[in-house]
Amino acid sequence: MIVLLATQKPFAPAAVQGIREIVEAAGHTLALLEKYPGEDELKAAVADADALIVRSDKVTAAVLDAAPKLKIVVRAGAGFDNLDLPACTAHGVVAMNTPGQNSNAVAELALGLMIYMARTQFTPATGSELLGKRLGVQAYGNVGRLVGQKAAALGMKICALDPFLSDEQIQAAGAEPVHSVEELYASSDYLSIHIPALPETIGSIGYKLISSMPKGATLVNTARKEVIDEQGLAQALEERADLKYVADVAPDCYGQLREKFGERVFATPKKMGAQTAEANVNAGLAAARQIVGFFETGCTKFKLN
Ligand code: 3PG
Repeated sequence: MIVLLATQKPFAPAAVQGIREIVEAAGHTLALLEKYPGEDELKAAVADADALIVRSDKVTAAVLDAAPKLKIVVRAGAGFDNLDLPACTAHGVVAMNTPGQNSNAVAELALGLMIYMARTQFTPATGSELLGKRLGVQAYGNVGRLVGQKAAALGMKICALDPFLSDEQIQAAGAEPVHSVEELYASSDYLSIHIPALPETIGSIGYKLISSMPKGATLVNTARKEVIDEQGLAQALEERADLKYVADVAPDCYGQLREKFGERVFATPKKMGAQTAEANVNAGLAAARQIVGFFETGCTKFKLN
């Protein structure tokens, strides 16, 4: 079988090597497409592929149309909003993700971004400390829990909202349960977003929630830019000179926000939460193992469709 690893944002060499070893040890061939300019190159590369590993690369109906042999696509990572799941199903392609494999990297970055903003983007201006501040975690899944636990070690007070967890489960994972998004935003000095981009979450964080945050609050987004209502964000920042926004997923209007609000807003040039050698290895090797298992035993653990 031909396993295509297609990553516009390439994995670390150690991850590519590890994927190759797993794929070849199982008798398959690895094809590699990195830093490709657009969908046309991906469409050409998938023509012979039996399996596909991607990161945030978009797997659209058009890509699937161009992949007549494709049987499985694995998103090496957590969020799968880049996979057209109904189209995968219509094409008879099994879609999977690798949940949890890159969570630590994202959680560490969320903490790093909080410190970066608290310490005035490492300028000599007087900053503030995280100790004693209240951190709200929106969705207490793999990443959210790690953020909560690491922040607790820094002396922050953790509260979390997660509609899929009971109060007992949230408490057992070290946070105070909060029961509404309004309560979460209104009570959090730092708010770390870990919700997926779904029809019901896209644009769900806007003016009302952001402007309800306490004085001096910072909103931290290492999830997806789409969950933010950018107009609402801009309006809240305009009206509240004490609020800050930091992200590893730059808003579309980032240039305007920087121009207007300067260092109260910061976004990394590329989505980089999961961009560590360790996370690349964890997610990449998990994806390769899932593909080998699928071909060898029909295992469909982590199937999404
Ligand atoms: C994820 O959903 O796993 C993260 O956002 C990482 O995405 P990336 O593989 O594009 O870095």
